[in-house]
Amino acid sequence: MNIHSYEKIWLVVAILLIVGFISTVTYGATAVGIDMVDDEGGTVNASALDEDPRFSEPRVERVGDNEYEAYVIAQQYIFKPDPITVPANSTVTFFITSPDVIHGFEIVGTNANTMVIPGQVAEITVNFNEPGEYGVVCHEYCGSGHHTMEGSVVVQPEDEFESGGDE
Ligand code: CUA
Repeated sequence: MNIHSYEKIWLVVAILLIVGFISTVTYGATAVGIDMVDDEGGTVNASALDEDPRFSEPRVERVGDNEYEAYVIAQQYIFKPDPITVPANSTVTFFITSPDVIHGFEIVGTNANTMVIPGQVAEITVNFNEPGEYGVVCHEYCGSGHHTMEGSVVVQPEDEFESGGDE
């Protein structure tokens, strides 16, 4: 079989494009600081969050040296707690769920960005080094108040955190 040389060139170009596209997707999914959200946060009864040990009281809990867990509820049209207060130089694992509809949870300026699905618990870990304040936005359309749904993460200086209190 005789393949025309132009056709050979296009065959090679097509294969290179396919390899290139697969590489960009792989890079986007695994490059530094990027972590896909999976189902390791588990599930929860969305209609009984007030009876759930993790979510009955949305809060930040210390679980180790500089390690914290934040239990967050995203609901029409607020985040609880708000603000989410954590100390500087900490690693915070957020567990987020919703009692009503699908929301988004993005901590602007960090790697944290997930959908929040009723019945599912999204889990994301973020390092906070410097004191400061980050906006939290809902980026999934969730109803008439969607555009007003925002919260914040306040990173306090370490020595102020215990006394400064939560919420
Ligand atoms: Cu919640 Cu949009």
